[in-house]
Amino acid sequence: MQWWRDAVVYQIYVRSFADADGDGVGDLEGIRDRLGYLELLGVDAIWLTPFYTSPMADHGYDVADPRNVDPVFGDLAAFDRLVADAHDHGLRVTIDLVPNHTSSEHEWFRAALAAAPGSPERARYHFRRGRGPNGDQPPNNWQSVFGGPAWTRVQNPDGSPGEWYLHLFAPEQPDLNWTNPEVWDDLEKTLRFWLDRGVDGFRIDVAHGMSKPPDLPDARGDRAPSPDGERWAATVDAPDPRFDHDDVHAVHRMIRAVLDHYPGRLVVGEVWVGDSGRFCRYLRPDELHLGFDFRLVRAPFEATAIRTAIEQTLAAVADVGAPPAWTLSNHDVSRPVTRYGGGVEGHARARAMALVLLALPGVVYLYNGDELGLPDADLPDEVLQDPIWELSGHTRRGRDRCRVPIPWEGSAPGYGFTSGDPWLPMPPEYGKLVAAEQLEDTGSTLSLVRRAIELRKTHPGFTGSELEWFGAPEGCFAFRRVGTTLVCALNTSGETVPLPPGEAILASGPLPDGMLPPGTAAWLA
Ligand code: NOJ
Repeated sequence: MQWWRDAVVYQIYVRSFADADGDGVGDLEGIRDRLGYLELLGVDAIWLTPFYTSPMADHGYDVADPRNVDPVFGDLAAFDRLVADAHDHGLRVTIDLVPNHTSSEHEWFRAALAAAPGSPERARYHFRRGRGPNGDQPPNNWQSVFGGPAWTRVQNPDGSPGEWYLHLFAPEQPDLNWTNPEVWDDLEKTLRFWLDRGVDGFRIDVAHGMSKPPDLPDARGDRAPSPDGERWAATVDAPDPRFDHDDVHAVHRMIRAVLDHYPGRLVVGEVWVGDSGRFCRYLRPDELHLGFDFRLVRAPFEATAIRTAIEQTLAAVADVGAPPAWTLSNHDVSRPVTRYGGGVEGHARARAMALVLLALPGVVYLYNGDELGLPDADLPDEVLQDPIWELSGHTRRGRDRCRVPIPWEGSAPGYGFTSGDPWLPMPPEYGKLVAAEQLEDTGSTLSLVRRAIELRKTHPGFTGSELEWFGAPEGCFAFRRVGTTLVCALNTSGETVPLPPGEAILASGPLPDGMLPPGTAAWLA
């Protein structure tokens, strides 16, 4: 049963969603308290970012024990309560898995450090001798996605300099060696552990990572990291040896084989692979069900760019018969309001894009807070916590700006997120966007998104998986799901244009005299 084929999935950045115990960090009980809100919003499922035991060097994407809950987020009993209550609210629960790397505090990595070069303990990771006469140069030229070399040298037990280990992200995130059968067995154990606890699926972190070329060759050409800490990996013209190695598909086949024993469970991958031909290989019938395609995240607010992103995404998945998985943002990238220009204009454009997103066929992922129209927070240097800030030598500010806690109600400093001090300061402008007030205001972004989700579920226009495009004025587009009468029109130009024929059933802003103003989208039936 593929419940997700046209689902809306809500991404919860657990640290920032709701804090029940007042320590300033979101937790599982906090999420449980807010399930009513999610039911009201109308989403079908949630995706929880990592809540596993972790020293939090990368805020939970450095996992020390993948089969336990970090005390800052709760415990296994809290997790079980959350799953049970979510199911009672009609919400499915999907969780993050981080198979590319562990934390440097994972018992395997500690054992590796204590063991000798060439030992089975070290063989679970990528340890190598350094280059140069004294081995004091990294084994190859790979860069960490977060900044700096992708290798860190360890000390031998006698204090002398030893081997180097590979970490594509922070030094506290050593990459696992996916040619080692123990690594496979452990992931299978983790999958079953959570499936048996009732989760409805997984999001695979760095699904284009894991496997590496056996000889770990130098990368050719410039491999500058992207400002967001992720990169558009492995185009055909410029292969990147760090990512998208052919052997990774065997890992996805293993994951899928396990899931196939549990009917109705979903696996979606974070696949930063720009080449459609290579991207769709992850979605073959025995691999991932879905892959995030980040083209919409990368498209500016410009009709041709957005239309091209949509068409390319549809074409990429059509080859393998998988539904597309759309998103405008997540915890790694700027929020739409800010990306589209900020202020009143950015806000209007983000509302318009929410309507475009929710009109598309396939699976829609919404990042928590985007339904409130939150902008990125402007944070002072001294509060920045993302490892990118330090590892880039203070040249990239990192992702904290899009991870600031959700304003629920009330006033500063916690706005109902916490009774304590939020782990990142919440800017005063978030006080004007609190969820409680937006729920009461029919013109709010929250009300718009709620209504859009409701129509997406109930209106007959939202059937069919193909799009048909109409002629539209410059800087605009209009599409319809083939076989239906529902049209979505977007105006990214600077001019007010006539609306396509039909009765407007929802719009992201006012439609004076049947016209579509700049930065506005409308649904017409
Ligand atoms: C992708 C995650 O979304 C990001 O937050 C994390 O830092 C990296 N993978 C490393 O796990």
